[in-house]
Amino acid sequence: MLELAIRAAREAGHLLAEKYNQPHQINVKGLRDISTEADLAAEAVALRLIREGCPDACVVSEESNSAWQDCGDSPTWYVDPLDGTTNYARGLPTFSISVAMARRGKVECGAVYDPLLEQLFYAERGQGAYLNDERLHVSARGTLIESLILLDWPRVPALREAAVRLLSRLAPQVDAVRSRGSAALAFCAVAAGWAEAYFQFTLGPWDVAAGALLVEEAGGRVSGLRGQSPIDSIGDQPYVLSQPDWLVTNGLVHEAVLANRPYE
Ligand code: IPD
Ligand code: CA
Ligand code: CA
Repeated sequence: MLELAIRAAREAGHLLAEKYNQPHQINVKGLRDISTEADLAAEAVALRLIREGCPDACVVSEESNSAWQDCGDSPTWYVDPLDGTTNYARGLPTFSISVAMARRGKVECGAVYDPLLEQLFYAERGQGAYLNDERLHVSARGTLIESLILLDWPRVPALREAAVRLLSRLAPQVDAVRSRGSAALAFCAVAAGWAEAYFQFTLGPWDVAAGALLVEEAGGRVSGLRGQSPIDSIGDQPYVLSQPDWLVTNGLVHEAVLANRPYE
């Protein structure tokens, strides 16, 4: 299943790279929410491979079947064929594809591929997290003043204000803040030890499934933004994939980030 996730991520990712410098057809899905012809083409490639390689797959994929559904015991594939569409459509070179397989809400394996940098992040539960062939570990920085914090901007105005309030408390205390526009790559950056924390109030399960496993397997901590742990007892995970709000850290600064939340 991990090999299948990797193959789907790589092949769809190569298509994204090929189409990146061509003109795009933009489809407006909602407020600050677009897709392009490349999202759809990459999704078609990934889903074809997944269905060929795993005939009983239950698929939750952003552009074609993003409704929350009960897949029972079937292997559930979470696919974001292009994470970072706003960047992609504008020509900003930060985007990825995320593919993960879960059973009963518990992610078993996943891959995130950055096709421009040819960086393949992948993990299998209990087997560690990797970038290409190198084992990943979260960083050992234990204080906010040493921390690089990543965040993304919610589309909904009220949640965007909540992000600003949390950031206004954190920013004076930390080393640096970045927003790169691909949630999956932000999770990977925490797993790789390049950043200490990432938060976002509104993510879908296809954004996070692979990344959450990568962070856990690299030794980090995954929760909601209220620190809910556990909010549900699916498997042994301190989160559920359907929750919208996410905080992933190296573990060491998790409580320090949560202590700054201005909401309850
Ligand atoms: C988005 C990106 C972005 C995050 C949004 C996501 P998309 O995914 O991950 O960084 O802030 O919440 O929806 O739409 O490019 O697949
Ligand atoms: Ca996404
Ligand atoms: Ca997407």
